[in-house]
Amino acid sequence: ATHKLLLLPGDGIGPEVMREVEKIVGWFARNGVGFETEADLVGGAAYDAHGVSISEAAMARAQEADAVLFGAVGGPKWDGVPYAVRPEAGLLRLRKDLGLFANLRPAICYPALADASSLKREVVEGLDIMIVRELTGGVYFGEPKEIVTLEDGSQRAVDTQLYTTGEIERIARVAFDLAGKRRNKVSSAEKSNVMKTGVLWRQIVTRIHREEFPATQLEHVLADNCAMQLVRNPKQFDVIVTDNLFGDILSDIAAMLTGSLGMLPSASLGAVDPKTGSRKALYEPVHGSAPDIAGKGLANPIAMIGSFGMALRYSFGLIEAADMLDRAIANVLASGTRTRDIAAPGANAVGTQEIGDAIVKELSAL
Ligand code: NAI
Ligand code: MG
Repeated sequence: ATHKLLLLPGDGIGPEVMREVEKIVGWFARNGVGFETEADLVGGAAYDAHGVSISEAAMARAQEADAVLFGAVGGPKWDGVPYAVRPEAGLLRLRKDLGLFANLRPAICYPALADASSLKREVVEGLDIMIVRELTGGVYFGEPKEIVTLEDGSQRAVDTQLYTTGEIERIARVAFDLAGKRRNKVSSAEKSNVMKTGVLWRQIVTRIHREEFPATQLEHVLADNCAMQLVRNPKQFDVIVTDNLFGDILSDIAAMLTGSLGMLPSASLGAVDPKTGSRKALYEPVHGSAPDIAGKGLANPIAMIGSFGMALRYSFGLIEAADMLDRAIANVLASGTRTRDIAAPGANAVGTQEIGDAIVKELSAL
């Protein structure tokens, strides 16, 4: 089967880090793993060219692709553009139209970078956890969502946390499935002590576990306690599955355990198509377009390259290739070749392109 990749580099450092991914794609092509790649515009770049944050042609290409690699969008240049066509709207449209309900955020602490963590080395060294966040439901989307003015002139704001059986079942399956390929443990985080959505969440995760994944270890943890445990002893976790709101917060906590924003990849997955067995997917670094360093060749491309690694693993099933890429990244970090954001104190930093080159060289040496 061919592997169809759509590259959407976007704005700011997006194109700079995407060029390094293209080097890795090129290396795999020379070594027997070919990709059919296309590229298109998104965000401010698409607005400048077409007056929209993503064109219908690019959306059609995204629907056709096996995986979309997304760089970053936005920047001060587009601060004044109309709301509906602001750069971020392109990403939101992709998430919505591709039905990307499962957001996967790994938090990995490379031994070589343990001192960059917000925590002590012994607490984070070798950390490898995966946060699975529900991305299309919950309180960010539930209706009613409004601010109402009351008779006495004061106001009342309402957000609605709402989850259905089907929404919880499908995110639970993603989490258990992932855990089976890792250390086989799922921690489900909610607030069933004070929220009805938490009660239903716990019931359904428990049932999916019993009926479909009995060999996996399941624990339920209250979301506030989960936040505490992430900082106290994060290595107790393997996969954490949680709703949209708690996932937003818990994944940002986990991010700080690992060092720089420039190191964090992510994946967003859609439903499995029963006809083809495949699923829509978009892979992107957690960071934004970093206008403060754009165009200077300073950006760390590892979050973007790691996102491609997740595509190898989760969209294409190329586990060996993904493992190789992970090892190449770890070796480059261990060798001390690092961009400024993660360089050891007093050590010389290299640029974006040197990291891509070093990873390619390391792949050949493995
Ligand atoms: P940001 O993630 O772009 O940058 C935050 C800080 O981290 C900056 O100091 C930046 O230089 C640094 N940084 C980020 N990525 C880095 C990398 N790969 N290597 C080295 N240093 C890195 O977030 P910020 O500054 O809040 O937003 C800048 C723009 O990006 C805004 O227009 C924002 O809307 C947009 N944005 C886009 C996202 C996306 O495309 N998914 C996500 C977050 C922000
Ligand atoms: Mg957040």
